[in-house]
Amino acid sequence: MYKLKVISSTVRPGRKGPLVANWIAEEARKHGAFEVEVLDLGEVNLPLMNEAVHPVMRQYEHDHTKAWSAKIDEADAFIFVTAEYDYSYPASLKNAIEYLVHEWAYKAAGILGYSAGPFAGVRAIANLKPDLLSLKVVSLAEMVNVPLVNELVNEEGVFIPNERLIGASKIMLDQLVRWTKGMKAIKEDK
Ligand SMILES: Cc1cc2nc3c(=O)[nH]c(=O)nc-3n(C[C@H](O)[C@H](O)[C@H](O)COP(=O)(O)O)c2cc1C
Repeated sequence: MYKLKVISSTVRPGRKGPLVANWIAEEARKHGAFEVEVLDLGEVNLPLMNEAVHPVMRQYEHDHTKAWSAKIDEADAFIFVTAEYDYSYPASLKNAIEYLVHEWAYKAAGILGYSAGPFAGVRAIANLKPDLLSLKVVSLAEMVNVPLVNELVNEEGVFIPNERLIGASKIMLDQLVRWTKGMKAIKEDK
């Protein structure tokens, strides 16, 4: 089993992110190859990056950084669940990414983008991809795009996917298994 961290990017009260993240996490569990944990940045609650030493040195002063480092270090793969804020991905996700360096490296990532409007976070994804690559996270071509997210949340606050989304998640997860296997080989080949 590969360790998969599903990272939910938004932190505002009433955010939809965890609803969508919990759904893709459940799809990943059903898929069978992953031991899955959801990391909701609203609960992780990192302050704006406040380490004195560049993270490439791994000399972390604060407990919140040590805890975040341990979670990301143990991951074999990621799914980033990102909203689109002002045509990009949320500052909370940028902040969480820039806390660490080595912990991210040589791992594969699927991305799920969502938005209240029709564009499903595609501009957020387009901005996230090169930033991930700079930290040696390889993001897959296959992704899951969720437009009109509010229409897919029922009165109990549960995200109800349609057939297209279930199909897209399966395609992305199939590829994530393949890339995770490959990236583990690269990571171990020092
Ligand atoms: C600060 C902010 C900026 C937003 N900017 C965009 C945007 O650029 N494009 C878009 O499609 N939706 C935008 N939206 C609407 C979001 O798609 C929608 O509110 C979504 O639920 C946000 O994710 P969250 O609920 O997890 O915070 C924005 C929402 C907020 C709160």
